[in-house]
Amino acid sequence: MSVHLTTSTNNEIFRPLSPEMLADPYAVYARLRGDDPVHWHDQLQAWILTRHTDCVRVLKEVETFSSDPRKLGKPIPPQIISLQTMDPPEHSVIRHHFVAALKQRDLATWTDQVAAAADKLLAAVGDEPFDFVADIAEPLALTAMCLLYGVDYPRDDTRFRTASRTLALGMDAGLAPDRRAPALAAREVINEMVQEWLDRQVGVPAGLHQITTVPREYIVNSTRAVFDAGYSTTANFLANAVHWLLTNGHTDIRVFGEMDARAVDELARLVGPVQAVSRHCHADTELGGRAFRRGDVVVAMIAAANHDPDVFPDPRTADFRRAPNPHLGFGRGVHSCLGSHIGSRIMVALSHTLAARYHRLELAGACRQRPTATQRGLDLLPLRAR
Ligand code: HEM
Repeated sequence: MSVHLTTSTNNEIFRPLSPEMLADPYAVYARLRGDDPVHWHDQLQAWILTRHTDCVRVLKEVETFSSDPRKLGKPIPPQIISLQTMDPPEHSVIRHHFVAALKQRDLATWTDQVAAAADKLLAAVGDEPFDFVADIAEPLALTAMCLLYGVDYPRDDTRFRTASRTLALGMDAGLAPDRRAPALAAREVINEMVQEWLDRQVGVPAGLHQITTVPREYIVNSTRAVFDAGYSTTANFLANAVHWLLTNGHTDIRVFGEMDARAVDELARLVGPVQAVSRHCHADTELGGRAFRRGDVVVAMIAAANHDPDVFPDPRTADFRRAPNPHLGFGRGVHSCLGSHIGSRIMVALSHTLAARYHRLELAGACRQRPTATQRGLDLLPLRAR
């Protein structure tokens, strides 16, 4: 039996694409966590988990909570199959190559290049009000990923950025089915770009060509998934973090000058872009007093877990020295973020560049939330720098 949380008008309170939840999902997460932490959602036909302890269990128990719907005979379009939709050992073979490739990168030089790119983008906007999303966060995240992959910045970056945004919208296809087909088409746009790198053997981690145990299509998809996961989460994170700082009293530019990996972790906890990750129950089990059946879909609301007061005292307040900080903003377990240190370095490099150039950074108009629930971000963030 499942309990249904309803509003007075008898609607689900968990409506992530509603204007109220887009504006502030954390209030609803808190209510769910308190009233029904293992919540059955009819539209999604899925369990929604909001407690830290339950989300950690799902992320860590990969034998019970699988990322691979194929094992359950569930249909999955071939364009989607990548390391993100696989379980070990198939997953580990591909992941290993990307992790090894990142380890070989000279990250000190790469960080200098990212800082220089940030400086150039900021110089271009000058003293005029600018849109932090379109003018800084997105081109900087894309530049950083191109530098990391060793590929040229796309000639038509709008095409890539639009495709990536469409993919992010498509992550909510369970709530808005009309987003599914455009997202599949957008994958093809990015796959084309990746295929060209693979053909020219640029931007490919060494050895990826030699993997014969995994179909080539899945290698292409994984190369796309790593690139786009890095670009879109980082761009959204930069915008969420800057917006949160400026709207929560951290207007002194010194907060940017003092940014370090620990402060980035706290921002990832507070306003990390990834709100939810889903898994498929691979075996009957029990969680929070509820019986889960093989085949059930489980949505771990990691953004809700990151505000769980049982784990994070005063969860909506920033403590840039918080330790320990077992947040899930970069995931946990075998599918945890393989580029968290990369995203963190980009945030630090940008922050230090902002602090070096300006005395003050402030909002210059109303911002616009991106209409996405799985990955939270902004479509518009007008700023003025002095
Ligand atoms: C601040 C920026 C970032 C945030 C907040 C973030 C967040 C996350 C989260 C929450 C997950 C776990 C997903 C799950 O469990 O299903 C994840 C996985 C992943 N991230 Fe990140 N990420 C960031 C930056 C990056 C970067 C820069 C890269 C690439 C260089 C990257 C590549 C990946 C990949 C490939 C996965 C899937 C790993 C797997 O399935 O084994 N991410 N990320």
